[in-house]
Amino acid sequence: MRILVTGGAGFIGSNLVDALLADGGYTVRVIDNFATGHRSNLAHCIDKIELVEGDIRDLEIVEDAVDGVDMILHQAALPSVPRSVKAPVTSNDVNIGGTLKLISAAHKAGVKRVVMASSSSVYGDTPTLPKVESMTPKPMSPYAVTKLTGEHYLNVFARLYGIETLAIRYFNVFGPRQDPSSMYSGVISKFMKAAIEKTRYTVNGDGLQARDFTYVDNVVHANLLALKVEKLNGEVINVACGEKHTLLDLIAAVNQAAGVDLPVDFAPDRLGDVKYSLADIELANSLLGYSPTIAFSRGIRSTFDWYATS
Ligand code: UD1
Repeated sequence: MRILVTGGAGFIGSNLVDALLADGGYTVRVIDNFATGHRSNLAHCIDKIELVEGDIRDLEIVEDAVDGVDMILHQAALPSVPRSVKAPVTSNDVNIGGTLKLISAAHKAGVKRVVMASSSSVYGDTPTLPKVESMTPKPMSPYAVTKLTGEHYLNVFARLYGIETLAIRYFNVFGPRQDPSSMYSGVISKFMKAAIEKTRYTVNGDGLQARDFTYVDNVVHANLLALKVEKLNGEVINVACGEKHTLLDLIAAVNQAAGVDLPVDFAPDRLGDVKYSLADIELANSLLGYSPTIAFSRGIRSTFDWYATS
């Protein structure tokens, strides 16, 4: 079975590529424009995959990429809430425009199934926790709007054309290969970098905001289950650990993993930031048989070990 991983040179995408190759039952194709992904994430397996270098906003390239593909794991996107606040049009073009081109080309090419990376950000600041898929989404940033719109496109294509789709709402994924070097990088990668370099942590707000931080192996596991489940029908599910940790908890865990006790600088709240995020993961369990395999604290230790040795 041939699987296309869009954004396969990125943090989550390249972890998916590794898992697909390790499974052994898949031919793996990647499309990536290396905007936020890196060639180095695929260097160790470049002779085992098919690589299409290009942008998902380019319909011709997307049509080439989906040719002969059975299923798609769609990870390509411009991440980051603050990036989307600064440049909403670009986030829209890549995340919505690119997804629409991909799913249109996939439908035309007879691809059986498309599984898309969505985001916990679609829930916004709804006061009820945990966040359940039946809640009305309340996006607070252009990024969240792009992910929610992608979900709607997948669902509409499933209903109109019968292509099987699933949107997985990832909750703050972290782990090996998450790039800490951009101002838009995820907080755990930035804190890992600070711990390795023994500098300082910068916390936006009071540090009491909480996230359902999810080690990357858990979302990889969910995607592999989504390839194997008998039938999909345009569903949307949360994938997370079902536990929330504040940023101050996170700092304590990173300090402990690194054997340091670094100072913290407090900076203003970030525009469009959600205060609390926690997932209900019952639906992922009933639809896919998903439950988390690596808990937060073990994930933090593995992630630190990776940053310390690479
Ligand atoms: C959001 C989504 C997440 C998605 C990600 C994609 C929510 C709840 N989560 O993550 O599912 O994968 O976008 O980009 O919407 N922070 C600091 N110091 C830093 C960096 C960040 O204090 O140096 C704070 C932020 O203000 C935020 C928290 O850490 O409160 C997490 O930030 P970040 O890692 O960027 O992820 P989210 O925006 O929560």
